[in-house]
Amino acid sequence: MGFKARAAGGARSIAVRPGLQLGMFEVGDSRELFAVVERNRPYLREWMPWLDISKTEEELRSFVQSSVDGYASGLCCRWALLVEEKIAGVISLEDVSVMHGRAKIGYWQAKKHQGRGFITDAVRSVLRYGFEERNLNLIEIRAAVENRKSRAVAERVGMKLDGVLRQREWLYDHYVDLASYTLLSKEWRESILQED
Ligand SMILES: CC(C)(COP(=O)(O)OP(=O)(O)OC[C@H]1O[C@@H](n2cnc3c(N)ncnc32)[C@H](O)[C@@H]1OP(=O)(O)O)[C@@H](O)C(=O)NCCC(=O)NCCS
Repeated sequence: MGFKARAAGGARSIAVRPGLQLGMFEVGDSRELFAVVERNRPYLREWMPWLDISKTEEELRSFVQSSVDGYASGLCCRWALLVEEKIAGVISLEDVSVMHGRAKIGYWQAKKHQGRGFITDAVRSVLRYGFEERNLNLIEIRAAVENRKSRAVAERVGMKLDGVLRQREWLYDHYVDLASYTLLSKEWRESILQED
């Protein structure tokens, strides 16, 4: 399903740069998403903890449905990373707390798309959406301490390292420590002003 078909406005589709859009998940995306996961299983397994609960298209359908429900409830916003209108990964704003004005960004992309700044630019777009459209005060990225590529994304967009959360995630057969990076709304506004 392509970008044009999703172009319903608002957060449903976000143009990141030419050839790269974020498209809010829609029922019916599970087959294409499953195919990308299948092609990238060993690579994703290094850092993503959900591969064993995503073994079938049916399980991916539950993920897509929960994404559609999450958008309706406002508790999360998940977008397909669309490279030339094809699903190439996922980026999301999770655990949205209206009360505390905070949320977390999560992401992954297909191995073949690494190294082109797609996720860095997509994160910038989601930060803008979170701070401007959702009026959040703080956005966090958590990455395994040894996941250098993911930590580099957080650092590239100007997030600050708050600290290390010990043994915060179970990764199949061991716990991993997570580096917690955050950006405050006022810091983001200041960085935008500096760019102008
Ligand atoms: C984490 C992950 C998304 C990082 O991918 P990535 O390609 O390093 O990140 P980006 O798409 O932002 O690209 C940045 C790279 O492109 C390069 N680049 C090229 N053009 C660029 C541009 N216009 N802007 C920024 N970077 C650019 C950067 O130098 C960097 O390359 P380097 O690591 O060799 O220095 C990817 O490795 C992944 O999906 N891993 C598996 C799942 C995972 O770990 N998810 C995160 C869990 S917390």
